[in-house]
Amino acid sequence: MQAETLILGQVLTFAESPFDVPPDEAARHERAGAVAVGEGRIVAVGPADRLRAAHPAATVVDHGDALILPGFVDAHAHYPQTAIIASWGKRLIDWLETYTFPEEARFADPNYARAQAETWLDLLIAHGTTSVASFCTIHLASVDALFEAAEARGMGVTAGRTCMDRNAPAPLRDTAQAAHDDSAALIARWHGRGRARYAITPRFTPTSSPEQLEALGALWAANPDCAMQTHLSEQREEVAWVAELHPEARDYLDTYEAHGLLGPGAMFGHAIWLTDRERARLAEAGASVVHCPTSNTFIGSGLFDCARAMRGRIGVGLATDTGGGSSFSMLRTMAAAYEIGQLSGTALHPAQLLWLATEGSARAMRREVEIGTLAPGSAADLVVLDLGSTPAIAQRAARAETLWESVFPTLMMGDDRAVAATWIAGRMLGK
Ligand code: GUN
Ligand code: ZN
Repeated sequence: MQAETLILGQVLTFAESPFDVPPDEAARHERAGAVAVGEGRIVAVGPADRLRAAHPAATVVDHGDALILPGFVDAHAHYPQTAIIASWGKRLIDWLETYTFPEEARFADPNYARAQAETWLDLLIAHGTTSVASFCTIHLASVDALFEAAEARGMGVTAGRTCMDRNAPAPLRDTAQAAHDDSAALIARWHGRGRARYAITPRFTPTSSPEQLEALGALWAANPDCAMQTHLSEQREEVAWVAELHPEARDYLDTYEAHGLLGPGAMFGHAIWLTDRERARLAEAGASVVHCPTSNTFIGSGLFDCARAMRGRIGVGLATDTGGGSSFSMLRTMAAAYEIGQLSGTALHPAQLLWLATEGSARAMRREVEIGTLAPGSAADLVVLDLGSTPAIAQRAARAETLWESVFPTLMMGDDRAVAATWIAGRMLGK
């Protein structure tokens, strides 16, 4: 196929996971590289000279020395919490009650939901994030608002109506039946429409009764190619609360498993305080956990041991967890993952951080055929990074002797100023 557009720059791809083989064997770097794009998809990746010769009619967009990567994939976020990011002084349960639930109640107004969805997606694009898995609120219109805003931008978004039928304020509570029926209606309306994918979304065990978990488990069994997203073992107080609510369960994960909510495509946010049984079951079941490092430090949850999860063959995605997380930036998120890795005894390599923020998250969402890599046939979703975006970063990168030394300062100190361009489905948006 002839490409319509040739995007030039340094290009970094992964032939294998840098958790499975040494990072330098996993990565492929073209210093003078190109990505050829046609009909919104990647046609080829390779040396600029070769692709120019192969696609002479293509429009050329030259990003110079900037680094072209698959667009960032944020595997766990709450778009309705955009306006309450950086709220002071609470831990999970009182943070939910004080800041989150009152804000989520505002999404009863579809106009507010639309405005917030648009604001949030535009922030993500400015930060180089091209795909996301998001919780919405209990309101159907909050889901429509996000999918409509994503469709208008050509973005591949996974999202679902957040279900809660206990331990939440009355305006945010539903029933097992309503959770099932509304989610089923949204699956029919959105799942597989263009790039939209539905995630069945019980908020977490403390706010979903066993009846609701059962109803959503049945819905997932009827729609197995949907994702399933929820929270697991984020804070110790939460784990103790689940044990009190469910003395019959072997552990927290068991409260989901007992109702058909564990399997391939299940995404469990946080998963910090796991037992050995939970780790083994997550791996056996082909489920994924999602590391949300800025959230884990911001609301004081604990240190996720990424290296241990990888050794245990559990799928791991990386995410901002807006607004428990303190940033919309996957660069800031990688920096926090690095710092948490250090505190847990493992220095994650820059290749591993970048892989988690792209292919790792895409795999957790079971979307790696479409997003998270630069494989031919994938959506042409790209982030282009300026590796010297501030004087502080530039002076450090100037000393770099290797690719990784030139990239790492941007991972540690970069933000939206490092994003030279974001491409979504072959269109350059932002900057
Ligand atoms: N656990 C249940 N709901 C939430 C939420 O909205 N944010 C975070 N960080 N944890 C949760
Ligand atoms: Zn969350």
